[in-house]
Amino acid sequence: MKFDVLTLFPEMFDMMQESVIGRAIDKNLIEINSINMRDFSKDKHKKVDDTVYGGGAGMLIRPDVVWDSYQFVKTEKAKVIYLTPQGKTLTQEKVLELAKEEHLILLCGHYEGIDQRVLDKMVDEEISIGDYVLTGGELPAMVLIDCVSRYVEGVLSEGSTEEETFSNGLLEYPQYTRPEVFEGEKVPEVLLSGHHENIKNWRKKQAFNRTMKKRPDLLEKVELSDEDKRFLEDFEIGKKED
Ligand code: ADE
Repeated sequence: MKFDVLTLFPEMFDMMQESVIGRAIDKNLIEINSINMRDFSKDKHKKVDDTVYGGGAGMLIRPDVVWDSYQFVKTEKAKVIYLTPQGKTLTQEKVLELAKEEHLILLCGHYEGIDQRVLDKMVDEEISIGDYVLTGGELPAMVLIDCVSRYVEGVLSEGSTEEETFSNGLLEYPQYTRPEVFEGEKVPEVLLSGHHENIKNWRKKQAFNRTMKKRPDLLEKVELSDEDKRFLEDFEIGKKED
């Protein structure tokens, strides 16, 4: 999977060399290129922005600079995403969809934004990472690269994404490691029992309970199997903790 990021701050992406993403790059599972749009400025001072026609505060990034940097990276299969608070909010569903792409071009605005004409010409999709305004699209682009890369084959060990939060529409159950007793708190007995069926049921119940408590809005969207419905009734979810 290749990510080409069109940005005025390419150094910000250096921090993606660490941890899981860094290893995925080393293994050539993903490629992250940050392209400095300033390199495409024809101005002798490398200026990339200008004032807004019709008046208004701030500066806009010029369309020719964005267009020329796009021409430099575009491929037949590339999907172009503009990171903007006006886009559709990024969800796990969208992350899984994007993980199927081969080449993503991520366009990061800064300052007041980008000339509309070039956006109309090249952008396939607008994505926001939440209803708040950041100073630019760089952090959102990093968020997107991080969560999409996790689903590229080989990036995580097998099974890692199967039971995690959101994978089945629910929050993940609580997990514990050594020591068995920490500050007087014991690990739930069932997890030490070695009884796989009981552990599975306990975890499912915890996942439902947590989702009910922390994110009841998610439960409304989950499609429950008949087995889950019976399970919910049996355990009176939301009333009992363990
Ligand atoms: N640019 C500025 N704020 C943003 C946000 N919330 N999501 C995506 N891009 C942005």
